[in-house]
Amino acid sequence: MDYTMEQYQASAQAVRERLGAFAPKVAMVLGSGLGYLGDEVEAPIAIDYKDIPHFKASTAPGHKGRLVFGVLEGRNVAVMQGRMHHYEGYSYEEASYAVRVLRLLGCDTLIVTNAAGCVNTQWKAGDLMLITDQIKMFSESPLRGENLPGFGVRFPDASHLYTPRLRELARQTAEELGIPLREGVYFYCYGPQYETPAEVRAARLLGGDAVGMSTAPEVVVAGHCGMEVLGLTLLSNMAAGILDQPLSEQEVLDAAAAAREKFSGLVRACLGKM
Ligand code: HPA
Repeated sequence: MDYTMEQYQASAQAVRERLGAFAPKVAMVLGSGLGYLGDEVEAPIAIDYKDIPHFKASTAPGHKGRLVFGVLEGRNVAVMQGRMHHYEGYSYEEASYAVRVLRLLGCDTLIVTNAAGCVNTQWKAGDLMLITDQIKMFSESPLRGENLPGFGVRFPDASHLYTPRLRELARQTAEELGIPLREGVYFYCYGPQYETPAEVRAARLLGGDAVGMSTAPEVVVAGHCGMEVLGLTLLSNMAAGILDQPLSEQEVLDAAAAAREKFSGLVRACLGKM
């Protein structure tokens, strides 16, 4: 279905009524097992997705399904603890609905985090990756359907979906913290099955360094409505077929827990410099 501007406005208005004078600037979407950053927000105002008109629930494991507004590293943030995925049965437009609502609420920057499979065989599970670009060409666009000019143009440029200035900021920040940071391309696969080894080889041939089931739709939408984007990936496991072992959700959540300090340290330090 196509959402109307009125629906986005109604969602934003409902949230505004809960926020009072608080105005968020930086939106954050936290991936599998990475939602704990939302618990570190100061003076939090938490709103369950189910209490916001037109919002969908988040059903994926490790995703709480609420928005937390407050202050982190001195910045006014809106943290999505849990995202909506296409594989949960949502259209791409539904899955990225919240991004536009956060834009209407005044957010001009989006930080996206995720856990993903490592496609690049030079790297290892547990590494962090700065997303430089994405490939999402085998599935439809979240912008399909009537264009809403209040958000952006019909044919938006996608040359710099991941803002060069923020990439540089992340690079410098990682260096200062002594956290090794890979850089690469996020290859979107819609899941929910993990990829086959042949799909992972195809992703590698096409220029992917990581494979994952999220992020890319929201980033298309964020780019369309003029938000600056920083994307950080936890390479939670080697992608299918690289190691002779099956992939599991538990492996992803364990990796997220193990990387907690490093990952949240980097995200928070980047945020503090924005
Ligand atoms: N593939 C897709 N999504 C993922 C993976 C993976 O290997 N690991 C974590 N999310």
